[in-house]
Amino acid sequence: MSAAVARSPKSYRLTIANIRQTIDCAANQTMLEAAIAAGIDYPYACATGNCGTCTSRLDVGKVILLPRNDACLSPQQIEAGQTLACRAKPRGDLTVTWLGRAGR
Ligand code: FES
Repeated sequence: MSAAVARSPKSYRLTIANIRQTIDCAANQTMLEAAIAAGIDYPYACATGNCGTCTSRLDVGKVILLPRNDACLSPQQIEAGQTLACRAKPRGDLTVTWLGRAGR
């Protein structure tokens, strides 16, 4: 009989292009959660996929999107490479650019 082994979730590298900073983002963590945990002032408001403040361009990589309000991220936006940082969990290393705060 083998003992259960506690494993930490798989982690990926998340580069936020706006501030040229790379942090860890666990597979079970949203990009926004990882950014906040790292002390980054990522633009957001609701954190539940209902406002669009965290809209970001996915420059590199793939994500899984959690349920969200389709009015905040349309299929056309997804096709154009946009995502919601508060709803996106990594499926590999990522590079993103937040779009929600002009001039920063
Ligand atoms: S913070 Fe509101 S949709 Fe992400």
